[in-house]
Amino acid sequence: MGKVNKSFASDNWSGVCPEIMEALIQANIGHVESYGEANDFYTQRAIARFREHFGKDISVFFVYNGTAANVLGTSHLLRSYQAVVSAESAHLNEDECAAPEKFGGTKILGIKTENGKILPQQVTPFLHSIGFQHHAQPRIISISEVTEKGTIYTPDKIRELATFAHSNDMLLHVDGARISNAAVSLGVTFRELITDTGVDILSFGGTKNGLMFGEAVVFLKKDLARDFQYLRKQGLQLHSKMRFISAQFERYLTDDLWKKNAENANRMAKLLESNLKRFSQIKITQPVEANGVFAIIPPQIIPLLQKHYFFHIWDEASSEVRLMCSWDTSEEDIRDFSKVLQNLLSENLRSL
Ligand SMILES: Cc1ncc(COP(=O)(O)O)c(C=O)c1O
Repeated sequence: MGKVNKSFASDNWSGVCPEIMEALIQANIGHVESYGEANDFYTQRAIARFREHFGKDISVFFVYNGTAANVLGTSHLLRSYQAVVSAESAHLNEDECAAPEKFGGTKILGIKTENGKILPQQVTPFLHSIGFQHHAQPRIISISEVTEKGTIYTPDKIRELATFAHSNDMLLHVDGARISNAAVSLGVTFRELITDTGVDILSFGGTKNGLMFGEAVVFLKKDLARDFQYLRKQGLQLHSKMRFISAQFERYLTDDLWKKNAENANRMAKLLESNLKRFSQIKITQPVEANGVFAIIPPQIIPLLQKHYFFHIWDEASSEVRLMCSWDTSEEDIRDFSKVLQNLLSENLRSL
């Protein structure tokens, strides 16, 4: 079989990193109590790891995927007449096939953004609804860290949003599908980025940074977690062989594996950015702050390049694409991709 190019479509196109695969193999030995109950030592140890990283006063629940973490986590904290305020581009709003609406009965109030990030002053207009009986009542601000535009919030910006939320009787949810990439990029710990900034609830991602599957709903304030286990089961997300999610997270949060994987993905995105900057026909559209590169590529080139490397078009109108790097993207992958692109650009020079 010839060489198959890695894709730049998404960080969940990559496989499972070897350390996690080994943890899964080890977890496959013998019988262990199911459903993450008290005698499932994998789950107890994984939760202990989360406490080391986020502080002892948290509650952690493992689920299969990020959509469930977002939908169940937010809907758990809402009454039927309350709403989430988020960027329009948020995964919760755009990419969850109306699961928040169907399974959570959640109304989402979207904010248009250039870079995926929202500011407190953009939430303010929604506060006029508070106390007005005809309008859904804003209760949660949800942000994505990393955003869907590849940008990140600094701890100060998260703290600002949390303070704003709390002073308006609201809560702050963070969709952290790529939280490890953000922490690595900022050079901060999870505690500094999430616990110390006042976040109330976090969807902690694993799949996009080397796990086979698994995400965690992390309540930073224990009382918010009350009865969540029932919603997880009712919401079809209680994994019976729980140890296979837990063993992955235990390993992920040990010996800085999360950091190693995210560092590689982020470094490769930077390398890709610097290679793309050499081509005058290509324009980088967002600051490269984590493991994604957003760029405008001439529309004639996109399908030709996609024959070699699959990636997603982010905005058809402007010909903007998203190129994602993974824990296993290598310098050679970036070099080869850049070479193919260079050839396509020079072969099609006249039509550009
Ligand atoms: C920002 C963000 N949140 C959440 C998710 C979770 O998605 P999934 O349900 O596919 O695990 C994704 C995946 O694309 C994402 O990009």
